[in-house]
Amino acid sequence: MTHRKAIVTGSASGIGAATVLALAAQGYDTVGIDRQLAGAMTTAQAASDVGGKHHALLADVADEAQLVAVMAQAVQFLGGLDALATCAGVTESSGFMDLSATEFRATYDINVIGTFVAIREAARHMPAGGRICTVASVAGLRGGGLVGTAAYAASKGAVLALSKNAARSLAAQGISVNCIAPGATHTPMIAAVWQNEALRKQVESLAPQNRTAEPHEIAANIVYLLSPQASYVTGATLVADGGLTMY
Ligand SMILES: NC(=O)c1ccc[n+]([C@@H]2O[C@H](COP(=O)([O-])OP(=O)(O)OC[C@H]3O[C@@H](n4cnc5c(N)ncnc54)[C@H](O)[C@@H]3O)[C@@H](O)[C@H]2O)c1
Repeated sequence: MTHRKAIVTGSASGIGAATVLALAAQGYDTVGIDRQLAGAMTTAQAASDVGGKHHALLADVADEAQLVAVMAQAVQFLGGLDALATCAGVTESSGFMDLSATEFRATYDINVIGTFVAIREAARHMPAGGRICTVASVAGLRGGGLVGTAAYAASKGAVLALSKNAARSLAAQGISVNCIAPGATHTPMIAAVWQNEALRKQVESLAPQNRTAEPHEIAANIVYLLSPQASYVTGATLVADGGLTMY
């Protein structure tokens, strides 16, 4: 068991909540940051039942000043910082011709700028050996076309590039940055769309495993990329998509 310290954004739900629980099971203390404080507190309570110290803080990751302040508070609570997972994100499903610049910017502000500020602030507080995992999507590799569309796909492509740049930029500080690109995963983000059984089956059938992932399956990969076992892995994209995008 380790006693490492981690911050997880988007901890109220889905992949972020599963990541907090998986980190707790590995002996981490965590702070979850989310714009839904009640959900983040529920996750922190569930993690405390697993073991370790867990806390939740309210922030909109698209609000730079708020996120800077809350990241500092999180580090203070933890007494240091070894790991960051940036799971906060939103999807967007307007058709290409109906997508407004305002919607595009809102998606970009959360998915890309929110990820950037979280990485930058984590890097201020991390010693050498610090590890960061961002969350992109197969949409960033494929250009969307499954659930999220143009703004979502473009934002996730940006997360892939941002993560590689952060890996280059922070290597001299001894900080590693990797990215996970999940395929469709059973979370509230896709629950409404997945009610369309025909669409769900059609998307699932594109992948050899022919199914939707469970959040804990994605979280397990994030935990690996945050662990000292991944010490020689940086700038990598771990694609967890049931084989959807292999070539
Ligand atoms: N579910 C999928 O099929 C899937 C596939 C590929 C990638 N992803 C990515 O995984 C990440 C997690 O998504 P999920 O499926 O768990 O979705 P989710 O909706 O269950 O969870 C997202 C969390 O992020 C939080 N959040 C959103 N905007 C925020 C903001 N501005 N500030 C703070 N918190 C904010 C939400 O409150 C929520 O708790 C996202 O980046 C998503 O794009 C999801």
